[in-house]
Amino acid sequence: MKIAVVGTGYVGLVSGVCFSEFGFSVICIDNNVSKIEDLKKGVVPIYENELDKLMLKNMNAGRLSFTSDIAEGVRDADIVFIAVGTPSKTDGSADLSYVYGAVDELAPHMNKNAILVIKSTVPVGTTRAVKQFLQDNGFDIEVAFNPEFLREGAAIEDFMRPDRIILGIESKKAEDALKRAYRPLFVLSIPIVFTGLETAELSKYAANAFLAMKITFINEVANLCENCGADVKEVAYAIGLDKRIGEQFLQVGPGYGGSCFPKDTSALNDFSKNFGVSMPLVEETIKSNDARRIKMIQKIMGVCDNDVKNKNISILGVTFKANTDDMRDSPSICIVNHLLKNGAKIKIYDPSFSEQAKKIFKDAEWSNNAYDNCNGADVVVILTDWAEFRAINLADLRRRVKNPLLVDLRSIYTVNEAKASGFVYCSVGRPFIEG
Ligand SMILES: NC(=O)c1ccc[n+]([C@@H]2O[C@H](COP(=O)([O-])OP(=O)(O)OC[C@H]3O[C@@H](n4cnc5c(N)ncnc54)[C@H](O)[C@@H]3O)[C@@H](O)[C@H]2O)c1
Repeated sequence: MKIAVVGTGYVGLVSGVCFSEFGFSVICIDNNVSKIEDLKKGVVPIYENELDKLMLKNMNAGRLSFTSDIAEGVRDADIVFIAVGTPSKTDGSADLSYVYGAVDELAPHMNKNAILVIKSTVPVGTTRAVKQFLQDNGFDIEVAFNPEFLREGAAIEDFMRPDRIILGIESKKAEDALKRAYRPLFVLSIPIVFTGLETAELSKYAANAFLAMKITFINEVANLCENCGADVKEVAYAIGLDKRIGEQFLQVGPGYGGSCFPKDTSALNDFSKNFGVSMPLVEETIKSNDARRIKMIQKIMGVCDNDVKNKNISILGVTFKANTDDMRDSPSICIVNHLLKNGAKIKIYDPSFSEQAKKIFKDAEWSNNAYDNCNGADVVVILTDWAEFRAINLADLRRRVKNPLLVDLRSIYTVNEAKASGFVYCSVGRPFIEG
């Protein structure tokens, strides 16, 4: 079986590499020519654990190749996956121009018996509309929808051992083709759920909105903890032990960000209205998450007596979460920019050395490790919960800083560790420690 993947971003590249690891012949296509030239040389453009090794292995085995020529890429494929971006438009709706752009370009070159599978997250009704669009333009192409649930930072593991595969199909032909493509997972007893197109499309948005709500809920509980003397880490642990709730996505922090939850909650909130339904819980989640960023700014400003002018602020982590270089909609953007705007001198260390971040924070200084980043700092702010920040030697850090003030927006440290460190410690959802 030959597979083509259009769009070699976080989803397309991982999917292409993993399908080639299953043993299929895969060609990854992108209209970003320099990205494809790098990939051909074995250079992975994103930070994703183990992706480079798996990619090189499959390139060397002759199963994985890259092209920027969409016609050449799709010509021999039995299945063409579309994994281009679907960012938010300014009105909050999903921008489908990349999906339609790709469909338009590839349709004349696809093999008549091949299946077109949309993997990009698209509003309910899009796959059917794409089908209609193809028909209206004289192309008899079977279209299916296959949402992707991988998490950046654990993308290969998630693709290779997902909790489930959801396949929105309308024909036996599509069912058979996708069964073949996912057979390596089917034999591992991973549930494969066949549904209609609309159900598959909505399943993706419903999953992301639910997880975004869960994060937002624990952040609201954190606000209450700060005022009532409870400890949010302990509350999260206690409620997470209940199997009906589960422990995941109950980590407090500066609010959800990234390339999925913000845009997908926003798109769901938008397109549900087209079906005459409002979703107040989703709407409230979006508002609460936006407010969270402001609250985090107030927290930092508050411990700095509302004056950060000329203060040396050491920022640890700027990516929207650990184990990725992705900066899309990261809470750090508005937080750090606010500090910069108010005259702070910002120094950043992020273990991904994110190029995206360097373009965003042009006025910041960058360090190669957490300790150097804190030399002479007036305030240290932990923004992303990278594993290496969990075991910082706080005594060493204390000797390096000018002023022992630690703002931990992920509440990584325990209250006792903070007390012992001698830092004035401001975290989320727990008592303020005077130092
Ligand atoms: N990033 C995630 O963690 C994640 C997880 C699940 C689902 N998704 C969904 O998957 C989709 C892709 O997300 P992503 O993060 O991989 O996006 P991305 O922005 O990282 O990658 C998209 C790629 O598509 C390419 N592209 C755009 N138009 C093209 C065209 N006409 N021909 C060829 N290439 C083209 C771009 O150059 C880019 O490299 C989105 O709909 C997203 O919501 C993302």
